[in-house]
Amino acid sequence: MPISRRSLLYAAGLGLAGFGARRPAYAHPTLLLAPPPAALDPHTLTPFVDPLPVPAIARAEGLRPDPVNPAQRLPYYRIALQTCMLRVHRDLAPTRMWGFAGAVPGPTFETRRGEGLLVEWVNALPEKHLLPVDHSIHGAEAELPEVRAVVHLHGAKAAPESDGYPEAWYPPGTSALCHYPNAQDAAMLWYHDHTLGINRLNVYAGLLGTFFIRDDDEDALSLPKGKHEIPLIVFDRMFGRDGQLYYPVSADPQSPWMPEFFGDAVLINGKLLPYLDVEPRKYRLRMLNAANARFFHFSISADVPFHQIGSDQGLLSAPVTLKYLSLAPGERADVIVDFSGLHGKRITLKNDIQDILQFRVGAHSGRDESVLPASLRPLVRTPESAAIRTRDLTLDEVDNLVGESATMMLNGTHWCMPITENPVLDTVEIWNLINLTDDAHPIHLHLVRFQILDRRRFAVDEYMTKKTVRHTGHAIAPEPGEAGWKDTVRADPGMITRIIVRFEGFAGRYVWHCHILEHEDNEMMRPFQVLPAPANA
Ligand code: C2O
Ligand code: CU
Ligand code: CU
Repeated sequence: MPISRRSLLYAAGLGLAGFGARRPAYAHPTLLLAPPPAALDPHTLTPFVDPLPVPAIARAEGLRPDPVNPAQRLPYYRIALQTCMLRVHRDLAPTRMWGFAGAVPGPTFETRRGEGLLVEWVNALPEKHLLPVDHSIHGAEAELPEVRAVVHLHGAKAAPESDGYPEAWYPPGTSALCHYPNAQDAAMLWYHDHTLGINRLNVYAGLLGTFFIRDDDEDALSLPKGKHEIPLIVFDRMFGRDGQLYYPVSADPQSPWMPEFFGDAVLINGKLLPYLDVEPRKYRLRMLNAANARFFHFSISADVPFHQIGSDQGLLSAPVTLKYLSLAPGERADVIVDFSGLHGKRITLKNDIQDILQFRVGAHSGRDESVLPASLRPLVRTPESAAIRTRDLTLDEVDNLVGESATMMLNGTHWCMPITENPVLDTVEIWNLINLTDDAHPIHLHLVRFQILDRRRFAVDEYMTKKTVRHTGHAIAPEPGEAGWKDTVRADPGMITRIIVRFEGFAGRYVWHCHILEHEDNEMMRPFQVLPAPANA
């Protein structure tokens, strides 16, 4: 018997007050949910009793030969993926999670442009998964080891064998050595699991962390640094009253897969409703949406603005002052927030109407020498005329004949079908992301950085029947905060989102996908192959 949308939302622990999915929470109103265990209502917890944790900095364990140039030695890190118990709130029992080096988020990497490093990612996870595995999903078949992992560094320009290809997973007791050359501009990258078919579960369990690349251009700007630069890694989860993670499954035994996960507990750096003591001065906050599916819409109480200085792939050309800051899953924002003049005040970071972090503005510990520069770095727009090829790529939702679920696809193709996107190394292409679904999808390409050209409304039904594009609106330029270098772009429903991409760095096989992890796990991911440049072109 189908249950109503209202009771579905209730069952999912969402409430109806609008915790701010940017679209209706479920595209499948009749989807049946297995009843949650005794669910925790985060509103019953005392807010702002735990200090905001800042992840530890990863430490190298010596030097090892560079695989590309063995005469040279590189810093070598060894990071285990392992079970850990984490206290997400003072009044909750410790939560069993999976973390890198026993932490969620994992340790932060601090690196510089052009200074490569090696990481051995060691799968030290148990043989049994922390969460229910849906074996009906491609790549998660019952005959495979239930626990598998492979780590991807999101935003990195790395060789294919170090990129964390979803099929290059390894079971507990094994490891993979990855080489990250860091030959790219200063930016906040992040690392997370990427295993085919169970990526959403591995990341939900806690397998994520951040990775900063610094460079001289950034240093020259005198931005706030040290204890005045803080990563804010934001994701939502659902908990039972016993403090344990809960990941909902559909009651449909054919396919327990959920089309999107939304939890009512929003964690920052692994804490629920923490506080942060700040000085009345400028801070640089490095924000990451590490949620499975939730889009965040941040604001700060007392009308304190964000000065956005960077996006996914580093600095913008100039700061953008914003009252609201939106981040889709996978996206990052580099912002400066100025607490000067707010001495003695308590203000909050909000997601929609919900408070998620309290700033307690105390006294100065010294003069604020940092700067909010008027201009940041020159941005050269890639001209459309540089593109040698334009690809039309649809984002599709196909309702399944069995059960209530649906499959999300890219260009009508499944993961295992032959490669269709095969750009040539060092060439530029325009990708038209033609969204035929009712959802916004954050589309991410590995290896590359790109620029957003525009978004434009079109006649979806006409496209579906005749495969012809008829625009029904004018082209909308990217928002100022997304007008720099990106690696993840929000493709809005009913719109064609155009990006311009230079495929540079390495030839070989990578992936592009929706960063809603439930979509990615259920076919909304495709390989692409960068072909070597012709020998005497
Ligand atoms: Cu954030 Cu393919 O990944
Ligand atoms: Cu990535
Ligand atoms: Cu999607």
